[in-house]
Amino acid sequence: MDIKIEQLTTEQTKPVPTEFQFGRTFSNRMYTCHYDPDKGWYDPKIGPYRPLVLDPATSVFHYSQEIFEGLKAYKRPDGHINLFRPWENAARFNRSAERMSMKTVDAEEHVQAIASLVELEHEWIPSGDGTSLYIRPAMIATDPFLGVAASKTYLHYIIVGPVGNYYAEGMAPVGVLISDDYRRAVRGGTGAAKTGGNYSASLIASEKAKEKGYTQVLWLDAIHGKFVEEVGTMNIMFVYEGEKIVTPKLTGSILPGVTRDSLLTLAPDLGYEVSEEEIEVDQMLADVKSGKITEVFGCGTAVVVSPVGWFGYRGENVDVNHRKMGPISQHLYDALTDIQFGRAKDPYGWTMKIEV
Ligand SMILES: Cc1ncc(COP(=O)(O)O)c(C=O)c1O
Repeated sequence: MDIKIEQLTTEQTKPVPTEFQFGRTFSNRMYTCHYDPDKGWYDPKIGPYRPLVLDPATSVFHYSQEIFEGLKAYKRPDGHINLFRPWENAARFNRSAERMSMKTVDAEEHVQAIASLVELEHEWIPSGDGTSLYIRPAMIATDPFLGVAASKTYLHYIIVGPVGNYYAEGMAPVGVLISDDYRRAVRGGTGAAKTGGNYSASLIASEKAKEKGYTQVLWLDAIHGKFVEEVGTMNIMFVYEGEKIVTPKLTGSILPGVTRDSLLTLAPDLGYEVSEEEIEVDQMLADVKSGKITEVFGCGTAVVVSPVGWFGYRGENVDVNHRKMGPISQHLYDALTDIQFGRAKDPYGWTMKIEV
């Protein structure tokens, strides 16, 4: 399908701002494409960024039949642009669509839509340290119908905006509260899909954690309340004795992160052993206290690597690595961002270069 590119009027062309905040600043254009059972996907278009006008009965507002993705475009030292593993995000988008009984998209066309939008909006890609263009593909159910059933019509859209650091703390290690009261996801549920309900259901736990002075919540499995799953909206990794990196194995309730997968591939080439295991929370805390676990970090697109400085669990705080970022977290952060930004060779074929 050819994407129609609409011309923007002068009014629709805002200048690129010098200051921006994660998730609040968006560029001038967006991609949209519609689905209905007769036409299939139709009318793919890049036009002005604009509000969506939807009937109040639209099913996404009531039953949350929606999915999204998050990836980034990076300014390379040669002035061109890198997308990082957009094919993985497209594949996950379609897995999420299937889980939520939505229509899948043509993965190649989806990546092409991202590339075209990023190319048109390349002036919005900031070049400051750690900055990039965040790309948010989404799909929503658009039937104006209150019956609880899979929608027949959908809107697929993509918006982009410049971002710096996700956390106000930057790369400083953060406090993480281990939640005993709330669970994020359960096997058989939707934890492995990127769908809004997972996030709205998690808000109460993160708000309560913030009230207690923590930045993130560590999620335990919903069946036993004992195995470590994720931290906030990131996967989690533990460094044992300064050489082995262990992350919870994918059980169906954990989101399979692209960053997680990239680090599991990259780390052995940097000389570290990696392993995917069940990690029991009491043993993990004992290993942090004894110094067997030397570093802990969350990993995801928004932050890349975010060190955990301390855990709060049942009234006790346990410090990790004296609340400092460790050398392996830093090594992995540097190695991965060097590939993402095109400062280092990409032997894995992860980057898609867009010439501008
Ligand atoms: C719940 C959850 N876990 C993990 C991740 C990390 O995934 P990725 O590395 O693909 O950004 C994300 C963010 O996308 C997430 O929302």
